[in-house]
Amino acid sequence: MESGKLTGTLALAVFSAALGSLQYGYSLGVINAPQKVIERHYERSLEVHSGESLEESLELTLNGTGTVHTSVVMYWSLSVSIFSIGGVVSSFLVGFVGDLRGRVKGMLMVNVLAIIAGLLMGLAKMWKAHLMVIAGRCVMGFYCGLSSGLVPMYIGEIAPMAYRGALGTLHQLAIVTGILLSQVLGLEFLLGNDYFWPVLLGLSGAPAVLQSLLLPLCPESPRYLYIKRGMVEEAKKSLHRLKGEYNSSRDLEEMRKEKEELEKEEKVSIAVLVRSSFYRQQLFVALMMHLSQQFSGVNAIFYYSTAIFETAGVTQPVYATIGVGVINTIFTMVSVALVDRVGRRTLTLIGLGGMCICAVVMTVGLVYLSVYSWMSYVSMSAIFLFVSFFEIGPGPIPWFIVAELFSQGPRPAAIALAGCTNWTSNFIIGMTFPYIQDLCGHYVFVLFAVLLFGFTVFTYARVPETKGKTFEEIAASFHKGRKPTLGTRKIDTGTGTSTELEQLKSDSQ
Ligand code: GLC
Repeated sequence: MESGKLTGTLALAVFSAALGSLQYGYSLGVINAPQKVIERHYERSLEVHSGESLEESLELTLNGTGTVHTSVVMYWSLSVSIFSIGGVVSSFLVGFVGDLRGRVKGMLMVNVLAIIAGLLMGLAKMWKAHLMVIAGRCVMGFYCGLSSGLVPMYIGEIAPMAYRGALGTLHQLAIVTGILLSQVLGLEFLLGNDYFWPVLLGLSGAPAVLQSLLLPLCPESPRYLYIKRGMVEEAKKSLHRLKGEYNSSRDLEEMRKEKEELEKEEKVSIAVLVRSSFYRQQLFVALMMHLSQQFSGVNAIFYYSTAIFETAGVTQPVYATIGVGVINTIFTMVSVALVDRVGRRTLTLIGLGGMCICAVVMTVGLVYLSVYSWMSYVSMSAIFLFVSFFEIGPGPIPWFIVAELFSQGPRPAAIALAGCTNWTSNFIIGMTFPYIQDLCGHYVFVLFAVLLFGFTVFTYARVPETKGKTFEEIAASFHKGRKPTLGTRKIDTGTGTSTELEQLKSDSQ
């Protein structure tokens, strides 16, 4: 029987890994609050300010008056968006880094990037601040693209089946904690001011230092050791460190079978995965789940909440934004408690359906605000509920379900593709939302309501339940009645027959 124990080593391993997710969340949120202060600093370092003294320019910043030079706007937009570009590029490398020396060493190696990024931003005032911040955000994005894939991969592989959902959700819990932390530290009277903003940005590298001290104490993923490296004894030791003393023969047997399958399959690269008909359904589900996470519009709220709250008639938008961060964290905890009991599919359905209704209510609130002032409460409640529904399912589940949907062979490539889809769609929403808002005005969330409705129907029709199933059972649910391995399927190439894998490989050379 599988051990159901949550041991100290397992807790340490999950905690250490999740520090990478904390860093991701912090970097997502940190750029919001100090925007005006940093823009004023850019003006000074670019020497484009309009002749005001430092005190005058600060005064204008705090009043929210004062105009910003176009080159500053450009450097600022780049500081924000280059983070996502770094992430899009590096998410492709997740499989490579994870397989190179193992999951733990992979996470350890990439910390160098986070520390360099933290230093670049923390020391921004020592040289041209705009260039230092842009370089730091780019390296940090590159780091986060890697860690947002490596962390769920490692946690998914070490978690006992009964807690796979709850432990997987801790990745998201750490992300939202990071967002909240950055929102609070970004308050003007803490670090979001002209003196401390480099510290605020530089702190995004701090979790990497702690993680580098803790990771060497964590066991390598037994699945990686056994299936990828054939190190049976090491895998067994790792299993016992993670799960305590128990009869590991069933776990080892499951891995042996998966290794056997993998040997038939050979290596599944990203190019092979994209073109394989065998994995098409799984891949479609995985990518759609990431698309539904991002095109639900949640980051429109996160990136532009202050402006949205202002439109909704809220008098203290900054505190309302922190309120969103708090609600976000609380409901992710609810998801941790529910996900292994209620199931991934049900929570995703409730979450997406609930968000769809909230988007409609939010629109009604915004449209009728000019007629009834109490509509501001309607909009604000709808925003809070929108975020709560997101965190119950559509927020955390896509991050870990990809590791569940794929067996060891295609898993790293699938995680890389899903991560890249996530980062790219996040970038698209971040860049286009202000324009869409200009175009649609108060009706902007109707667009998300329509998309959410479509994603809810998709989830109902296509997403299987993975709760309480082994990786083998999950994979089998997609391939009922089909040949079990990619490598053995014969196809007609026109010049004779070949296996599907051989054909895909020769095509991609
Ligand atoms: C998820 C999303 C991320 C979003 C966050 C909000 O982690 O991937 O883009 O900002 O949830 O909680």
